Amino acid sequence: MRRSFIIVSTALILLTLTLAIYLNPNWFVILGVILVLTGLGYYDMVQTKHSIMRIYPVFGRLRFLMEELRPKIYQYFIESDIDGRPINRVDRSTIYQRAKKENDTMPFGTQLDVYAEGYEWMCHSIAPKNFKLLDHNPRVMIGNKDCQQPYSCSIYNVSAMSYGALSPNAVESMNGGAKIGGFAQNTGEGGISPYHLRQGGDLIWQIGTGYFGCRSADGNFNEELFRQKALLPQVKMIELKISQGAKPGHGGILPAAKNTPEIAAIRNITPYTEVDSPPYHTAFGTPRELVYFIQRLRVLADGKPVGFKLCIGHKSEFISICKAMMELNIYPDFITVDGAEGGTGAAP
Ligand SMILES: Cc1cc2nc3c(=O)[nH]c(=O)nc-3n(C[C@H](O)[C@H](O)[C@H](O)COP(=O)(O)O)c2cc1C
Repeated sequence: MRRSFIIVSTALILLTLTLAIYLNPNWFVILGVILVLTGLGYYDMVQTKHSIMRIYPVFGRLRFLMEELRPKIYQYFIESDIDGRPINRVDRSTIYQRAKKENDTMPFGTQLDVYAEGYEWMCHSIAPKNFKLLDHNPRVMIGNKDCQQPYSCSIYNVSAMSYGALSPNAVESMNGGAKIGGFAQNTGEGGISPYHLRQGGDLIWQIGTGYFGCRSADGNFNEELFRQKALLPQVKMIELKISQGAKPGHGGILPAAKNTPEIAAIRNITPYTEVDSPPYHTAFGTPRELVYFIQRLRVLADGKPVGFKLCIGHKSEFISICKAMMELNIYPDFITVDGAEGGTGAAP
């Protein structure tokens, strides 16, 4: 758009100048208008405040006009004292503007706290009368009898999304959010990138069939590499990914073009080669082997919680895993169940 703007505006200036000189001096008026708009466009291209204006000089300004036309939510609530007597009317009218950190929807469970920094939210209760007695920051302690480092986990966390599927900024912002909000970010199966580590938010390290970040040159699971990363203080739990709702039976493909030296270093693979994540694990094959593998991971991770993620297709398969757990008396510390409805995610 910027290049087109420069070409078209220059062409228009030359054209109107020629017409004004050789045809009719009235064209100078049009030339003046074009010069003003061109100046505005060049200003838009060099300013750094509004990206839409930088990318779409002059035309990007239409955005501000459109914003005026957008729907506005008129909302207020009555603030009351502890006995329920109304004391104040608080106006919370908002415009749909996510990019400007304003609400774009009217959430029913979460809302921006007008007094404190951040969000307030309500947790369901079967006895919502004694509001003050309720636990407003419910967490779940994850870790069973074999776990040496139980983790107090928020009930609100960031789903598995890999660096590579998401940009550096996205990964880093989510981790920053996790740090502020006291919750955890799941790395996704693409391994632990520097962007997961910069902000210091808690991590759940996910390991998929590609064993990215803990794989040998032949693509198999590597204990030493696993241990190095599992012991990072930011890694609070390890999640073995068995399957994902959006990719039934598929595994994944990292195309050579996306396999940059940076991605390759994070994932322990060779840059600019196509790397497949098989649809199944090579480190184990049966429910019994899965359960033993979980135990092995937990030991290698010095007792940090280890769980697995799956999308359940055949109930019998899950029951077999449960039977293996009971028979061996070895249990995962948590199980993440992904919906089978397909959902989002980088599917082939
Ligand atoms: C960009 C993107 C990348 C994802 N990458 C992974 C992944 O690496 N591992 C995984 O188990 N799930 C991955 N998922 C799936 C999510 O973790 C989650 O299971 C899925 O989005 C369904 O949950 P939702 O309904 O809360 O979105 C990804 C999803 C998205 C949108």
